[in-house]
Amino acid sequence: MSSGARSHTAPTPDNRRPVSLPRLAEMKENGEPIVMVTAYDYPSATVAEAAGVDVVLVGDSAANVVLGYPGTELVSMEEMIILGKAVRRGLKTPLMVGDMPMGSYEASNEIAIQSAQRLVKETGCQTVKLEAGGLSVERARAIVRAGIPVMGHVGLTPQTATALGGYKAQGKTAKGAIQLLEDALALQSVGCFAIVFEAVPAAITEAIVAKLEVPTIGIGAGPATSGQVLVFHDLLGITTGHMAKFVKRYADVHETMVAAVERYRDEVRSRYFPEPDHVYSVEPAELDEFRRYLDQESLASQKAWEWEPLS
Ligand code: KIV
Repeated sequence: MSSGARSHTAPTPDNRRPVSLPRLAEMKENGEPIVMVTAYDYPSATVAEAAGVDVVLVGDSAANVVLGYPGTELVSMEEMIILGKAVRRGLKTPLMVGDMPMGSYEASNEIAIQSAQRLVKETGCQTVKLEAGGLSVERARAIVRAGIPVMGHVGLTPQTATALGGYKAQGKTAKGAIQLLEDALALQSVGCFAIVFEAVPAAITEAIVAKLEVPTIGIGAGPATSGQVLVFHDLLGITTGHMAKFVKRYADVHETMVAAVERYRDEVRSRYFPEPDHVYSVEPAELDEFRRYLDQESLASQKAWEWEPLS
């Protein structure tokens, strides 16, 4: 920050209440779409807050999106905690979900509980998310039993994308769709409060969510889920390069940012910036006194005299 303390927290309308798990269940029952977005720092959290979304996920997509890693499997718990703490400071109303990074929950139920507790205690997230069915179902059960609400995640699970054959849609065969159904039912049965469906054919999602009671959140899974999630930097057009088919860009913030920094560059180089509006003034009397000091000092140094302080 250049100078002084500033707060960028957006005002929250008084009538907005913190989003609870019963509220999400109610939204699903009423057919009110649930809006979820990722956030990785304080400014993105304040944007999510100001926009009035329902759920904010501190996703391990932070690995690619803000930390520049090639895959989500590379982000550590320590990094997720730093990002999560910043997000917490910017949120008041959305439900906050902390993504459990790869390696923080697979080895045993004890490790999964310890990691989930660490994420909750150190970041202030109210719930956690972990990926995949199979082994993760037992981990989800253990974490739920320890009192921490868990969001499941099926379909394309980026932490294990290599084992899935790459970043591609899942459940495209009848066998794959049955597996997806079984994973989702198992995650629901161990108490997950919601399940993310990522990169699943819309018709398969529709058939599976009809069999589920918990809210479902889709990303590349069609319109049948109870809500949708997108990565903050993707929807704003901050991310550049290849974009998954399911991303809709609602702005081109990257282009806006580059154009602004280019204008700044040009104005510094041409000495147009800073303009009078951007500079501090000084009382003329103080400036005069300072100039007299400088004059005396240069005289003193020329004549090798000692300077007398002004009375
Ligand atoms: O990490 C993430 O951003 C996610 C969403 C895509 C659901 O897991």
